[in-house]
Amino acid sequence: MSRIIDGRAIAAAIAQQTAQRVGQLAERGITPVLAVVAPTRDEGAAWYLRSIERAAGKAGIICQAPLPAGVDAAAVGASIAVAKDVDGANPTSLGLIAAGVPTGFAPATAAAVLEILHREQVPLSGQRAVVVGRSVVVGKPTALLLLAEHATVTVCHSRTRDLAAVCREADIIVAAAGRAGLIGASHVAPGAVVIDVGISPAADGGMVGDVDLAAVRPAAAAVTPVPGGVGPVTTAVLLQQTVRAALAAS
Ligand SMILES: NC(=O)c1ccc[n+]([C@@H]2O[C@H](COP(=O)([O-])OP(=O)(O)OC[C@H]3O[C@@H](n4cnc5c(N)ncnc54)[C@H](OP(=O)(O)O)[C@@H]3O)[C@@H](O)[C@H]2O)c1
Repeated sequence: MSRIIDGRAIAAAIAQQTAQRVGQLAERGITPVLAVVAPTRDEGAAWYLRSIERAAGKAGIICQAPLPAGVDAAAVGASIAVAKDVDGANPTSLGLIAAGVPTGFAPATAAAVLEILHREQVPLSGQRAVVVGRSVVVGKPTALLLLAEHATVTVCHSRTRDLAAVCREADIIVAAAGRAGLIGASHVAPGAVVIDVGISPAADGGMVGDVDLAAVRPAAAAVTPVPGGVGPVTTAVLLQQTVRAALAAS
């Protein structure tokens, strides 16, 4: 039976380090501020913003998706200064990640996936990683970060043929499709690590991930739950990156 990765514990460890750095900045009279622009009423975004507020004490620059219909996400992202782009929304930030320039900020969710893998001591170099989803905010940056760690990366999407067969080749699966229960027993090879980024509304009013947890547990070595997996780590990483931006600017 696979290990359930405790995202809340990882988030708490990151938050402790962030608090120490905030203390160091406070001694120099610097208070990091995170500004959030939320242009639409969306339940998923509202949940994320509430968790940021809880973790930060107060949320003061990120632009929270989804954007209103007709708004160009790349143009909005490009309006955020790269040095303050702590959620990696500016296309230039993604370019910096692709080019391997360490000053660039990845979207917090993608960075959270890597943070979980590092803290769980999952080997990456030479490992086969399959990322299900190719969005600019999750799938692509996650694939780039895994590639930078020398994983052999395959990116899947809605037109991928035989998703299960591709996933079965993976040592690491990152599910980021936003399709509840998409990843089941037939997708997971024995010993694979499964990171579930997906969030979909559940019938009981809660949320479910892309991974059918009960189905994959017999084969997987470790799996992140939803809730309690990638979500809290994303919030912690966002604040970590905010403090990193403040330190770089000071
Ligand atoms: N935990 C967190 O902190 C966090 C943060 C952000 C997002 N999320 C969640 O992560 C999920 C993905 O978010 P997103 O913004 O990347 O979503 P998105 O923009 O809708 O992208 C979804 C991706 O999944 C692919 N896809 C959809 N159905 C598929 C299928 N049946 N088989 C294979 N690929 C499929 C799509 O392929 P095409 O490109 O071909 O359409 C697309 O590339 C959502 O559930 C979202 O709520 C979680």
